[in-house]
Amino acid sequence: MHGEIEFKDVIFEYSNGERVLDHFSLHIQPGESIAFVGHTGAGKSTIAKAVARFYEFQGGQVLIDGQDIRSFNLQSYRSKLGIVPQQPFLFSGTIRENIRYARPSATDAEIEEIANSVGHGEWLETLPEGLDSDVGERGARLSMGQRQLVSLLRVLVQKPAIFILDEATASIDPFTETQIQEALDLILKRSTSILIAHRLSTVRSADRIIVLKNGGIIEQGNHEQLMRGHGHYAELYNTYFRHQSLDYVENARKYAETQEMERAGSV
Ligand SMILES: Nc1ncnc2c1ncn2[C@@H]1O[C@H](COP(=O)(O)OP(=O)(O)OP(=O)(O)O)[C@@H](O)[C@H]1O
Ligand SMILES: [Mg+2]
Repeated sequence: MHGEIEFKDVIFEYSNGERVLDHFSLHIQPGESIAFVGHTGAGKSTIAKAVARFYEFQGGQVLIDGQDIRSFNLQSYRSKLGIVPQQPFLFSGTIRENIRYARPSATDAEIEEIANSVGHGEWLETLPEGLDSDVGERGARLSMGQRQLVSLLRVLVQKPAIFILDEATASIDPFTETQIQEALDLILKRSTSILIAHRLSTVRSADRIIVLKNGGIIEQGNHEQLMRGHGHYAELYNTYFRHQSLDYVENARKYAETQEMERAGSV
């Protein structure tokens, strides 16, 4: 599988009859990474669910390498998709076992190499027994960020043709975020990627940003092009993403310090 994805006039309705995608068309090149952005309810997850065939669509076609996904055997098709859902799924067991889940034949050495490929494996030093630490029931002993990282390492072990990330909105500590970004960059180099992005760094790492509104594409391009357009993306950026940029965080910190100094001075 090369991972070329084409939506052709896709019509998608949930069982309550709500039409979310109405003649949706989009062509994604093999190896390309796409970030979908848009307000809540815009249809981002629905597009990902249609590709993964978690739901069937009512009209049009989704083609992978030119073949209709409905002609594929569901199980073998899914095994070629690397999916990280909004709530990553971990089972009780060790981190090593959770990473291996995607490819049971992976050797210990391979898993160790992949675990050490992000941040020189520093993230493992914060865990009591490194790769052999127990993650707890559904991963409860790990932070949300660590659970995401484990899910991404799983995808690195799997090496899928297509990668689908429905990014969690939960805030992540800066250290884990850096490791997540490194893992993500490694995956993006290899797989055609559909990123439902909530973090600015994820949006910016995509080759192309698709802006969705009411199930339709209203803008697309890279960050600079879309900002120059002063449209929906620029508005989304100013309301959500800008607050995460380094400049913004840096300025906010300086402002807080100045306030602090002024308060101290006035006492
Ligand atoms: N299982 C479902 N049954 C019925 N309607 C649904 C279902 N899931 C989503 N919808 C509806 O479909 C539309 C698109 O939802 P979708 O989950 O794709 O949005 P989203 O862009 O992923 O939003 P968010 O940013 O909140 O995750 C919304 O109007 C939503 O209410
Ligand atoms: Mg969603």
